[in-house]
Amino acid sequence: MRNNTLSECYKLVAVRTQAFGQNGRRSYSSPAQEPKPYKSMPGLSSLPIIGSMHHFLPIIGSVGSNLNTFEMMDTLHKRFGPIVKMEGVFARANMVFLFEPEHFDQVFRAQEANPLRPGFQSLEYFRETTQKGTIDGLTGLTTAQGEKWREFRTKVNPALLKLKLVKVYAPALDEVAKDAVNRLKRVKDDKAYLENNFYLELTRWSLESVALVALGSRIGCLDDNFTEEHPGRKLMQCAKDMLDTAVELELFSSVWKYIATPTFKKVMKSYQLQWDISATYIENARKRINERGYAIPEEEQSIVERLLNIDERVAVLMANEMLVAGIDTVSFSTTSLMYYLALNPDKQEKLREEIRSDNPHKRYLRACLKESLRLRAVVPSNLRRTDRDHIVGGYIIPKGVDVVSPNEYLSNLDKYYPRANEFIPERWLADKSDPLYYGNAPQMITLPFGFGIRSCIGRRIAELEIETFTKRLFDEFKVTWEGPPIKIQNKIMSAYSAPYNFRFENAK
Ligand code: HEM
Repeated sequence: MRNNTLSECYKLVAVRTQAFGQNGRRSYSSPAQEPKPYKSMPGLSSLPIIGSMHHFLPIIGSVGSNLNTFEMMDTLHKRFGPIVKMEGVFARANMVFLFEPEHFDQVFRAQEANPLRPGFQSLEYFRETTQKGTIDGLTGLTTAQGEKWREFRTKVNPALLKLKLVKVYAPALDEVAKDAVNRLKRVKDDKAYLENNFYLELTRWSLESVALVALGSRIGCLDDNFTEEHPGRKLMQCAKDMLDTAVELELFSSVWKYIATPTFKKVMKSYQLQWDISATYIENARKRINERGYAIPEEEQSIVERLLNIDERVAVLMANEMLVAGIDTVSFSTTSLMYYLALNPDKQEKLREEIRSDNPHKRYLRACLKESLRLRAVVPSNLRRTDRDHIVGGYIIPKGVDVVSPNEYLSNLDKYYPRANEFIPERWLADKSDPLYYGNAPQMITLPFGFGIRSCIGRRIAELEIETFTKRLFDEFKVTWEGPPIKIQNKIMSAYSAPYNFRFENAK
């Protein structure tokens, strides 16, 4: 009966299925076959309880343990084709990887009103148990779903996404960028230190920047005296703990739902510490606003003040969200941009000329950022959990499955971008007649900030931070890379690891 209903549905949907033509424009196709059941979908074989995990074991696993995201996607794509199933581990939902843009476009768009993206479940657990009394049913963007997510997002969207409001931070973020570049001047000649600690240095800048926005004040991450006891150092450690434990807690195993494992206990402590530190800063911000004793026009208010006007709990939760999602994302993306510019001195020189020019529109800088985000996305794949059955590419994808779009992988294929592995910012500025023109690729291919109404709420802030820092950095330094390619690690988000072989010389 269920299949009958679905195949009726399929016939109706088939004539309206959206597919992309060569220029990324949508056209309509009419596939005519009966949908195949989910269990016949190609993919990794599965064992009871552990699902497909054995394929990722060293030596014996058919996929292997040492592949980066690109290699893993390439293996799955080449071995199984455009639609690939992977059974969940323990209590985790099953996953389906979709390699055709029109397929994930279909699923993502069907959820435009209520996008489901299962978040950090351990963080959700923390908020709903330990902080239950404090936040009283509210839950932040990364953890909430459905009506709760929509309500929270509607409240905070205006404070974070309006470009005019974010631009209020431009002068203060420029001060942070200047301090970061000055610090780099002090440590740049200590090659051994920088090779191991470049990422720490950059993260001091990204945390200082996002804290300015999220907590309403500078927190001193760029001071030379940045000891283990510094609250900034602790916040950095909390974000790191969360990322380090996420693959185990969120992706591969849900054992912690039954027994409090050591990893689970560790991350709960980090969540608590991060909560306490942000609550203290927000409380101080509130005191400062109260002491001011007079109201200021809305357009001059800081983001913290706007969030406090909604509700103190919203301000603390949103600060936590920004401290979770806004540190490593920005450091990673900035490292990528620096890396590609270091490997492409001609592009770096062109950028420097633009930075030093009087033209206020830094189009080449924007193009460089877009191009590095295309090549290396900190979130290499996007994901939505289905809230109904779908028929995609001839298969039934049931409700409750995590549909994954491997955007970074697809963005690196020549099929979509000519000379896809090369850093060519010019493709974002080329006109339509140029074969490099970025618009020849379907819009859904490159989504570094995600998709639709659930896309990154910090996008404007992130872009402003990175552009401000890049201007200061490349005005001051000529950056080169000496050594083997930068190493990338498999985590829930992409991450780099030492050695960082950047060299900094004063730019003429
Ligand atoms: C270059 C830097 C960044 C990148 C590439 C990035 C990317 C992303 C992506 C891919 C998502 C998932 C979107 C989706 O599912 O459609 C996301 C969500 C999110 N990001 Fe970012 N992000 C960055 C910086 C930031 C910053 C600086 C903040 C905070 C100020 C932030 C806060 C968030 C939050 C709160 C969410 C959850 C949104 C929701 O579910 O409603 N991100 N980000």
